[in-house]
Amino acid sequence: MAAATSVVVLDRGNNTTCTINLHGATVVSWRVNNQEQLFVSKQAVFDGKKAIRGGIPFVFPQFGEWNYGPQHGFARITRWHLEKNPERMPSGDVEAIFSLMDNEFTRSMWSYPFRLTYRLILREKELHFNIGIYNPSKDLTFSFNLLLHTYFKVPDVRRCQITGLHGCTFIDKTRDGAMFQEARDVVTIGEWTDRIYQNTPQEHIITNVVSGRKMRIQKYNFPDTVVWNPWIEKAKETPDFGDDEYPNMICVESGHVSSPVILLPGTAFEASQILQVM
Ligand code: BG6
Repeated sequence: MAAATSVVVLDRGNNTTCTINLHGATVVSWRVNNQEQLFVSKQAVFDGKKAIRGGIPFVFPQFGEWNYGPQHGFARITRWHLEKNPERMPSGDVEAIFSLMDNEFTRSMWSYPFRLTYRLILREKELHFNIGIYNPSKDLTFSFNLLLHTYFKVPDVRRCQITGLHGCTFIDKTRDGAMFQEARDVVTIGEWTDRIYQNTPQEHIITNVVSGRKMRIQKYNFPDTVVWNPWIEKAKETPDFGDDEYPNMICVESGHVSSPVILLPGTAFEASQILQVM
């Protein structure tokens, strides 16, 4: 019998690898010269049912609570198909493609046909993500949210700074969804943080990630940036998250969430992200 979860590894050599769990096409590890860049909780559950706590869960077609299905949609709890095995390109970079189509399970919550492709390319110090969503219907329009829920591993979240948010409006989910404008040049975290920053620029830099390095995030067609850390109390309330793990992660998430993407019949939407260790 097939295992509840199974993984695909992109190996670029030099201890630079990326591991994807087909459960949710969740990126569960990204090592650059043997240095892990992503946080996965020690309490994460790999039962092929629950969303994996950490790495990069794929949020679709809903961000947040959902009347028709689980929080953050079904893509992160559905087994994806490996469309193209990891393959080395002439540049030495390694590519793999994953896909998800509607099936009985997805249609039980969301009655639309769709085709999702997720292309990952592992470069020396970069990980590229290209997402395509196609509406094959002849007459149905659908709308959706999309987000890459990236958990970066950090030695101490209190020492991280996030650039590129100054002047942006944000929805503060820790304050009943009230709207504010970011006044700080760089954003730091010292408490429970759950914010949807809107119309953010294409680039953010996070300082003091692993080995004291910087992480560059570049994003295309992802107008929003979600910043999340559960801090002490919420960490305690989350069974698949260790009580003492909150200082060691920061979620900076590229998304299209504060307004939906509306996809007409026969059309496609594309978005991409590049993570780069600087
Ligand atoms: C964030 C949301 O993106 O994900 C938070 O903004 C949420 O509100 C967090 O708590 C984690 O969600 P989940 O469903 O993985 O526990």
